[in-house]
Amino acid sequence: MKILGIESSCDETAASVVEDGRVVLSNVITSSVEEQKLYGGVVPEIASRRHAECISQVVKKALDDANVTIDEIEAVGVTHAPGLIGALLVGVNFAKGLAYASEKPLVPTHHLRSHIASNYITDTELKPPFLCLVVSGGHSHIVRVNSYTNMEIVGRTRDDAAGEAFDKAARTMGMPYPGGISMDIEAEKGDPFAFTLPRPVVNDSPYDFSFSGLKTAIINTIHNAQQKGIELPKEDLCASFRYAVVDCLVTNFMKAAEDFKEDTLVIAGGVSANSLLRRRLRDECNKHGYKFFMPNKAYCGDNAAMVASQAYYEYLDSNIAQYDLNAVATLPIDYR
Ligand code: KG4
Ligand code: ZN
Repeated sequence: MKILGIESSCDETAASVVEDGRVVLSNVITSSVEEQKLYGGVVPEIASRRHAECISQVVKKALDDANVTIDEIEAVGVTHAPGLIGALLVGVNFAKGLAYASEKPLVPTHHLRSHIASNYITDTELKPPFLCLVVSGGHSHIVRVNSYTNMEIVGRTRDDAAGEAFDKAARTMGMPYPGGISMDIEAEKGDPFAFTLPRPVVNDSPYDFSFSGLKTAIINTIHNAQQKGIELPKEDLCASFRYAVVDCLVTNFMKAAEDFKEDTLVIAGGVSANSLLRRRLRDECNKHGYKFFMPNKAYCGDNAAMVASQAYYEYLDSNIAQYDLNAVATLPIDYR
């Protein structure tokens, strides 16, 4: 069964055709990131306008690359939540028009569930149940994935998401948006013990995260040095900050795994591309005898192959939208 997936929740306009939730036949992505860099972050208005300009061509290319016509597609999956509302609306309305005109079912797909599905297209053997660390620019969750469409949030961030913390710290160091990737590259050259940073915990909530204190600590370190006219080594700052963020993520995730007696651990979301996080979790899982899955780096960031994959499982679970489907800016991953 071939599904067309459409993604427009942030600054990527993407479309993809995936067969039976697992085999990627095409994967087209375009992004307004170069323009967003001028502003140091995503300007929603710019993202929406670029989606409107690109979406028809992106979808057409996804069908062409997969060598299929719309008649051979069995359903249209689209990210309807969560995300930037104006950006989401472009994808939702395009998908609605296409589904209506071609008389195909319309499948609403949750963006974070799709991030989890990036693992299904990477490792065709992976099946729920498992415990997943979902870390992106907007969310940091520990989720029990009971089935493809049934999830429970075990832990979440109380303030900034991990990706947001990386981006804000990187911006203070003068790196372009999105800073997470540049910081990861720079950190590979530095000493993770050069600067002592806190490992914030949330009292009585061992699986919850808090990154804002950590972000403030690195920003203060940089500003204090600047006031004294001292330039701190960027690679050491990056390495120490990355080490602290990854420490917090790994500690809570491993604790949840132990407490809930999970044997399969999975990561997803843009931050799952982080080299240290991947290495640390692989080693920890080896040590504890857990099976560990991580998405192919090509599917860590926003894409539509993950949307088409998740839409397949939503479709099998009869999650079909009517034509009054709307975009939703915030929606928990366990909404249904
Ligand atoms: O999942 P994603 O592409 O978009 C959202 O749904 O938010 O995540 C984007 C986030 C950004 O904050 C970006 O800096 C971060 O993922 N990111 C990374 C890395 N690659 C992307 N953070 C740390 N290390 C990386 N290698
Ligand atoms: Zn995302």
